[in-house]
This record gives sequence, structure tokens and C-alpha cells, in this order.
Amino acid sequence: MTEVPLVLLEHRGRAAWLTLNRPHSRNALSFATLLELRGHLADLKADSETWLVVLTGAGDKAFCAGADLKERRTMDEAQVQEFVANIRATMDDIAALPQPTVAIMQGHAFGGGCEMALACDLRVIDQAAQIGLTETGLGIIPGAGGCARLPRLIGTARAKEMILLAQRLTADRAFEIGLVHQVADAGSALGVGEEMVAALLKNGPLALRAAKKAIDGALDTDLKSALALEAKCYQSIIPTEDRLEALAAFGEKRPPRFEGK
Ligand code: COA
Repeated sequence: MTEVPLVLLEHRGRAAWLTLNRPHSRNALSFATLLELRGHLADLKADSETWLVVLTGAGDKAFCAGADLKERRTMDEAQVQEFVANIRATMDDIAALPQPTVAIMQGHAFGGGCEMALACDLRVIDQAAQIGLTETGLGIIPGAGGCARLPRLIGTARAKEMILLAQRLTADRAFEIGLVHQVADAGSALGVGEEMVAALLKNGPLALRAAKKAIDGALDTDLKSALALEAKCYQSIIPTEDRLEALAAFGEKRPPRFEGK
């Protein structure tokens, strides 16, 4: 009998779609799921043919219900430690992908599920889904980047409110506070996400990578170093064929045909 993958990888044109595939456990993150996911992320990181990475979940109930709490009950303290190191490293791997990343939350995103979305560049959520860092309600804290990434995205005050109250936000509230970029009508998150993917793929893939690098790098440093990094990233795209193609296309009044070269 062939084993069902815990994470599906599908290449659709230039986009790679990663789908957490444990719908009956609400796509909770087990050790084995993290391992599979990290394998795919390592391959995609080195894949210049992939211009964009999407993360989503199977089924319509949950994008991801966070760490697998059933598995957690079987773990001793050392194993919990190892799991937390692994889930943190997984989110770091997502954040470090050179390609732009889109989280399409077709269902709820709690705990590690929310942290996975935070590690992505863009977030789409279904109107019927909720999102939150619910860990303090379970006597633990967000340990896969939530405490560090959330305040950078929505500000310290809102992040403390969300984490300390273990809030489960509606999609509309998440949009209001800038946590997600788009709310899709109930049941249409995948379609809306696909539109966002198509819009991203119209732009120069090397430019997307360079812009992501310049923005992420700017967050971790002072303004002077951030501007120097931006200059370096700009420099990296000057010799590209894509830049010349876009200029030619502009002159010829047609859309550019980017090759990622
Ligand atoms: N880990 C392991 N299993 C989980 C899980 C998790 N994080 N979240 C849900 N499941 C399992 C349930 O135990 C249940 O299993 P069962 O069929 O064997 O009883 C199955 O998934 C369906 O869950 P259920 O709660 O019945 O589904 P729902 O659609 O009504 O609700 C959620 C989905 C995500 C809202 C709800 O399951 C939930 O709140 N989960 C916990 C989320 C959380 O706080 N995560 C933080 C972890 S640090």
C-alpha cells in the first residue's frame, strides 16, 4: 500500500503549492509532517525554476490547527524541546525562502498554523475562518516565531492583546488590524489566492526575490545598512535579461515575458 503524503507538493506553472494533508486532524503539525515539509522547503529553496511558493491546507475546516496535541501528550520534556526546535526551524525555513510566499488559509489557523502564515510574505484568509495564537490558553507560549514575528507585523500592543488573551480573531478583524492582506468570501479562499498568485507571477521573478531580500534585511538593521542592502539588491538585477525585456516590452506596448534570467 502506498503511503499518503502528509504534505502534498504540486507544481502549477512557476508556482509550487504545498498542501498540509491531514484534514482529519485539522492539518495539525506532527513530527513527521514537519520532516516532510522541511524536505520540500529545502528542495524549493534551491529551485530557480520555482518563482513562488504557496502554503495551504487540505479540506475546508482548517489551514492548520497548530502543533499536534495528541502527539504532544505522548512526549517527554526532551522530546517537546526537540519538537519546538523543529517547528521553529520549519517556520524559519519558510521565512528564509528566496521566493515570495503566500499563505492561503482556507480554514482556521491556530498556534503553529498562525505562525506558519506569519512566516509567509502574503496572507489570504477565508471569511469563515478564524486565526490566532492560542498557546497561552494551553499553558504554553508561541514557540515557532509568533512572539517575534507578530509584533513586527501588527505592533506590540495588538500582538500582546492577541497572545495574552489567546484570541481567536475573525477573518474581518484580522484584516482590520493588518494581520492578513485579503479576506475571501466564504468558501472562495483558494480562488482568491490563485488570483493573487497569478498577479505575482506577472512580475519579474528575480525582482520579487531581490525586493523580498531588501525588505526582510531592512527590518533587522539600521537605516544606513538597510539602504546599502537595497542598493546591493538593485545592483543584482541590473545585469538581468528580464530587466531589458521589460524595457523592450514597455517600448512595444506589450506585457513583458519574464524568464527569470
Ligand atoms: N492536534 C491534534 N489533533 C487535533 C488538533 C491539534 N492541534 N486540532 C484538532 N485536532 C483533531 C481533533 O482532536 C479531532 O480529532 P478526533 O476526530 O479524533 O476527535 C479532529 O482533529 C477534528 O477536530 P474538531 O475539534 O472536532 O474539529 P472542528 O472543525 O470542530 O474544529 C478547530 C477545528 C481547529 C477549531 C479545533 O480542533 C481546535 O480548536 N483545535 C485546537 C487549535 C489550537 O489551539 N491549536 C494550538 C496548538 S499549540
